[in-house]
Amino acid sequence: MLEDFKTGIEKVQSLPDMAQFKAEYLGKKGRLKGLMAGMRDLSPEERSSFGAKANEAKQFMEKLIQEQSTRIELEEINSRLDKEWQDISWTDRLKDKGQQAAGLHPLSSVMRGLEDIFLSMGFDILDGPHIEDEYHNFEALNIPANHPARDMQDTFWFQDKKHLLRTHTSNIQIRGMEQHKPPFKFVGPGKVFRSEALDASHEAAFHQLEGMMVGKDISVSHMIHFLRTLLSEIFQKEIKVRLRPGFFPFVEPGFELDYECLLCGGTGCSVCKQVGWVEALGCGMVHPNVLKAGNIDPREWNGFAFGLGVDRLTMMRYHIDDVRHIHSGDLLFSQQFKAY
Ligand code: PHE
Repeated sequence: MLEDFKTGIEKVQSLPDMAQFKAEYLGKKGRLKGLMAGMRDLSPEERSSFGAKANEAKQFMEKLIQEQSTRIELEEINSRLDKEWQDISWTDRLKDKGQQAAGLHPLSSVMRGLEDIFLSMGFDILDGPHIEDEYHNFEALNIPANHPARDMQDTFWFQDKKHLLRTHTSNIQIRGMEQHKPPFKFVGPGKVFRSEALDASHEAAFHQLEGMMVGKDISVSHMIHFLRTLLSEIFQKEIKVRLRPGFFPFVEPGFELDYECLLCGGTGCSVCKQVGWVEALGCGMVHPNVLKAGNIDPREWNGFAFGLGVDRLTMMRYHIDDVRHIHSGDLLFSQQFKAY
């Protein structure tokens, strides 16, 4: 039996198999018990020497089983470590193979930087759908059907003529008011779509970051101060801004905010089209009709909203001269940039 045991145990490779093997030899119906059952027919002396031998065998087997189990357990741990280890030097190894590690797209870096800035100022960050209904993209924003402002934004409509690809992130104003009670402040970053002629500064899909702050007695000067601080934070230096009147049906009064071109310092260059100023965003005091659409009483609350163009900001920050690079998916393009 012991010879069988010794050759048998070498073949056992897993802990469950070991448990079964142990039962086969040392279990209640095991081989050792079987042998001991035969002791009844032996003389008392024979019985006692047999008993001692059986005991010895039992201890021998138990010891070997214990040793083998420990060995199997160690092997299992080692093989898991082999399979699951992580190579944290993989970027270097990619380089050795002539490959490049993925980098963050410059637009993603800018978006993340913006989100960090707003989070640090206590804003919530909201999301809104790309496929939007007429109500959230236009109607609730004080742009009724047949309003000329609908033509200002060349819209991609779905066949049902009720849904569209959002033309701006301002739909997030409405969706945000549906979720928040004033006072509140939130931003909503994302892609927007317009059916426009494409050139170095126009893409059919581009990016905005919408912001809305509603509270008591908020004024235009709060808004200007806030937006200037925001731009200084983005570019990490004092930024000169100017306001021009701008028309957006969902704000009154409405403005366009420009900042002095960082590339030429205001003297005029190709990026700012020689004017020395760059359009940053549309903004204004939230129109009472928009607050009403969000179930907010305009006699009690007011606030401002803005829509920041993120592609242009990215172009400024990284000196990119054509917006079409941003969507090109060209790795040679995106690999040039470091994180924000
Ligand atoms: N939605 C406007 C646009 O896309 C920008 C804007 C947002 C203007 C909020 C005013 C207030 O041009």
